Amino acid sequence: MRPSVPLFAAVLCTATALAAFPAPRFYHTVEGTPLDFDLAMEEGRETEAVETFMETGINIYNEDPDILPDAESLFASMCSGCHGHYGEGKIGPGLNDDYWTYPRNEEDVGLFSTLFGGATGQMGPMWGKLTLDEMLRVMAWVRHLYTGAPETAFWLTSDKRASFTPFDPGTREDGGL
Ligand code: HEC
Repeated sequence: MRPSVPLFAAVLCTATALAAFPAPRFYHTVEGTPLDFDLAMEEGRETEAVETFMETGINIYNEDPDILPDAESLFASMCSGCHGHYGEGKIGPGLNDDYWTYPRNEEDVGLFSTLFGGATGQMGPMWGKLTLDEMLRVMAWVRHLYTGAPETAFWLTSDKRASFTPFDPGTREDGGL
């Protein structure tokens, strides 16, 4: 029996939807070897955000006001000592503009891979220090610190991009210090 037209259309739609979100591939930012998620901490593996990210490469925490305070304190304790309070750069490179040593960091799959597996020197892997869910949270804060034009915030879905305001330390209560 030939498939009815609606069935055929449904199959086609599903195929198109999957093609729009190919499952991301994760590999070490410098070495190019596949990342081993068996190393990940047990906690924080099965949150909605982690599952969505592993399937689509989309970080649902981006610009989510409910998690940003937690994301900010994670960044303050785990990253700012090397990358600066607002990701402006210190002994590690700036994270708040559109220049990347490793261009894959422009995408969230690349940024996640850099966090999980590390890069070179002092940028060690975070798999033993942050849960997968915390990595997505800290990434959302790195992205929130972005000072570039909204249209270059490629990691945002189009609706979030439309309302994105580049980060301005001067508008913070602490005066950006
Ligand atoms: C002990 C210091 C140190 C800590 C802590 C640290 N980093 Fe780094 N980070 C570095 C250094 C140094 C580099 C440059 C490494 C390289 O170029 O291979 C780097 C590179 C990076 C890069 C690549 C930047 C680019 O231009 O491609 C990203 C992204 C990054 N770090 C994010 C983070 C985040 C997020 C955290 C906190 C979870 C963090 N780092 C914690 C020192 C650190």
